Amino acid sequence: MVNDDTLTSLIDEARQALGAADDAAQLANTKARYLGKDGALTRQMKTLGALAPAERAAAGKRLNEVKQAIERLVVEREQALADAQLAARLAGEAVDVTLPGRGMGCGTLHPITRTIERIEAIFASIGFDVADGPEIEDDFYNFTALNQPEDHPARSMHDTFYVEGGLLLRTHTSPMQIRYARMNAPPIKVIAPGKTYRVDSDATHSPMFHQFEGLWIDEDVSFTDLKSVYADFLRRFFERDDIDVRFRPSYFPFTEPSAEIDMRFADGPLRGRWLEISGSGQVHPNVVRTIGLDPERYIGFAFGSGIERLAMLRYGVADLRLFFENDLRFLRQFAG
Ligand code: PHE
Repeated sequence: MVNDDTLTSLIDEARQALGAADDAAQLANTKARYLGKDGALTRQMKTLGALAPAERAAAGKRLNEVKQAIERLVVEREQALADAQLAARLAGEAVDVTLPGRGMGCGTLHPITRTIERIEAIFASIGFDVADGPEIEDDFYNFTALNQPEDHPARSMHDTFYVEGGLLLRTHTSPMQIRYARMNAPPIKVIAPGKTYRVDSDATHSPMFHQFEGLWIDEDVSFTDLKSVYADFLRRFFERDDIDVRFRPSYFPFTEPSAEIDMRFADGPLRGRWLEISGSGQVHPNVVRTIGLDPERYIGFAFGSGIERLAMLRYGVADLRLFFENDLRFLRQFAG
């Protein structure tokens, strides 16, 4: 017996049950409860056979309408669930375009580069040219031209990196004295900063390090000029006046006489301690001749200073290796 009220409430009931299904599995179960083999509507269909033929057609039609109504409800719910799922996914993937971005990581100049720029600016301001030269040198420029013939004992002062073809990595910036002086006429005032290499490695020595060479050739320059220029440079480099400078006799094959330049601060943690800062000397007559000048007429002064040493003193860095490990925590301290 197909009762119209029962069918209407069946639709309402199905609407509610389908509305409560929260995912595809629940929806399939609920659908089966009405339209499945053993579903409520299917059971009603099975009663049709017992009806009188006159009633059967109307009842069948009615049941079909109910079936279609429930099928529509299922499709609607399917769509609603799919819409909700998509909305949830989009919400999860949403990008808040108003949040501040991560910003461009902008690098900073390396402290050694900064130090070189500082040295160049100071010397340029008193009329020195700035020159650059090869790090791969030949024996002539690195040694022979600097008054160190092949059997000269001073050649063993440096442990040299030799490369193929009889070339070597320059052990100092002094080859630039020869290169620059051969290309330029006196008066010569130049500094040449750059990388240098020696087989040496500990807290205060690195196999690659930086020096700047200074060369000053004119008809009447003296140690006094060199001393005042260098002392003035140090005071400007460290931005303090309490600096004493002394020249201590030393030996280099390419200068005669030769001197180490020492400095000391009157104040601060290093107060009173003499610090070796540079080699220097009067350019040896043999070297003056090698560059094509008459040593009777021209006097030259030269110095070669360690750049890391100056940077360590200026920034208070105790271990030279920090400059070359490229740890950003170290490098960032020199920003701005
Ligand atoms: N070239 C020397 C060194 O590396 C330094 C130096 C340069 C000394 C110029 C005198 C004159 O130790």
